[in-house]
Amino acid sequence: MAKLGLRRYLGVVEIAGSNPVAPILIKKEKMNHSEPKEIGIGLIGLGTVGSGVVKTLQARASSIARETGVKLVLRRVCVRSLNKKRAVKVPKNILTARPETVIDDPQVEILIELAGGIHPAKEWIEKAFALKKHVVTANKALLAEKGKSVYLAARVHRRRLGFEASVCGGIPILRAIREGLASDNVTHFLGIVNGTCNYILTEMSQKGLSFSKSLSEAQQKGYAEANPALDVDGVDSAHKLAVLSRLAFQAEVDFKKIYVEGIRRITAADIVYAKELGYVIKLLVIGKKKEKGLELRVHPTLLPLDHPLSSVRGVYNAVYVHGDHTGDLLFYGRGAGMMPTASAVMSDVIEIAQDMTKGLDAMRSSWGNEPSAMKILPIGDLVSKYYLRFQVKDKPGVLGSIAKILGDNKISILSVHQKDSLGSRSVPVVILTYEAKESDIRRALQKIDSSPDTQEKTQLIRVEALI
Ligand code: NDP
Ligand code: HSE
Repeated sequence: MAKLGLRRYLGVVEIAGSNPVAPILIKKEKMNHSEPKEIGIGLIGLGTVGSGVVKTLQARASSIARETGVKLVLRRVCVRSLNKKRAVKVPKNILTARPETVIDDPQVEILIELAGGIHPAKEWIEKAFALKKHVVTANKALLAEKGKSVYLAARVHRRRLGFEASVCGGIPILRAIREGLASDNVTHFLGIVNGTCNYILTEMSQKGLSFSKSLSEAQQKGYAEANPALDVDGVDSAHKLAVLSRLAFQAEVDFKKIYVEGIRRITAADIVYAKELGYVIKLLVIGKKKEKGLELRVHPTLLPLDHPLSSVRGVYNAVYVHGDHTGDLLFYGRGAGMMPTASAVMSDVIEIAQDMTKGLDAMRSSWGNEPSAMKILPIGDLVSKYYLRFQVKDKPGVLGSIAKILGDNKISILSVHQKDSLGSRSVPVVILTYEAKESDIRRALQKIDSSPDTQEKTQLIRVEALI
């Protein structure tokens, strides 16, 4: 079998109308036993994800070569500090603190950018394209905020840009939308796309841990961004929403117009009250194609306990996508961390490297057609159900005046729950509303919050039922 020229049988198929028990043998092309082609890799960033990539290259380069015909050779690695202790060993002679040493090296054919941040990552990547190198990155901040310029540079220089790792760590969600749903019209999606926030909310809900303790655990596990405010303030989720929307809706998204709220204001009490009402609180990204434009928002959301996304816990992410032909699809997996994210990076590297060996690398576009700019609808236009938690003085007439203000603003009440004051002179009152317009809710809350009976800013959490 080892000799050149031998053919191998690949499998069996049935042909419609043929005898199903009589399989047809399919002959495979002549097996190619030529040496695998070497492709030079340059890496900027040897932190959580970069270390995972190096581990994979060190452990699996031979099996990748055997299976794909490409031998990935790590030529250069750039870090900020040469003296730092590393999770992986890298030969000293390929380690540098100068990004240009990696980008300019003629032996580097694919640049992997895993340093993060917008500048100077943008400049490195655009320079790499100009030098006719392909690029793979996990940098959703860059793609969301300066993507237009980066995608254009790739197009102008006919180079490939792989960014599967930028959304949902190890879940191949971008490839699934781009390729698997190529003929579908995606009408909406909702997802849990930030592992750090989902980890924090899960720990707070299941173990009663504090926000700060849960965040520091997420940081230790390598889930959080270098600046964890990006996670907890919802910005990282919004970055991913922008990348997802570009592919799902073929929309050029003005990042600044996405509505963003993080999880800092979610209290342990909100988590408990939501549970009593049959809900769980999750930080969701929501994208919906409406007649007048796109609804793109990131915020904590009450989901019914039996919603499929409600059981997504810890660092796990999940995205629910609705295509007009496929219907509902659910993607689930680890959304952050060293090896799941490295796996997504490697999937792009291998795809590009294989195309290079076939001379297809400049031809296959990895970002789809040039999307058109689409209007993003203002949050005031949203129609939703709401969870409102008021902290008010415990005295007669207060509840009546809240109900009146809500009614005056066309907001209909679904249920009212007065909680234990726990000895304090003010009480929490939780109201669930029927569907109302957000601008009406905001007008009502402005009035209620300015009343001397209201002791703190009212908590507003949107309720989502759609799957
Ligand atoms: P880390 O902070 O762990 O690592 C960043 C690495 O980049 C470090 O090795 C750092 O060097 C190096 N670096 C930073 N700035 C420079 C610079 N100016 N010049 C040279 N080297 C530099 O980040 P992560 O690995 O967590 O994240 C990398 C990217 O992947 C980010 O874009 C992030 O958003 C994205 N991502 C991260 C995921 C995760 O789970 N962590 C998941 C999905 C995407 P030094 O070590 O010397 O400081
Ligand atoms: N900080 C991000 C998260 C990393 O927690 O999801 C993955 O993109």
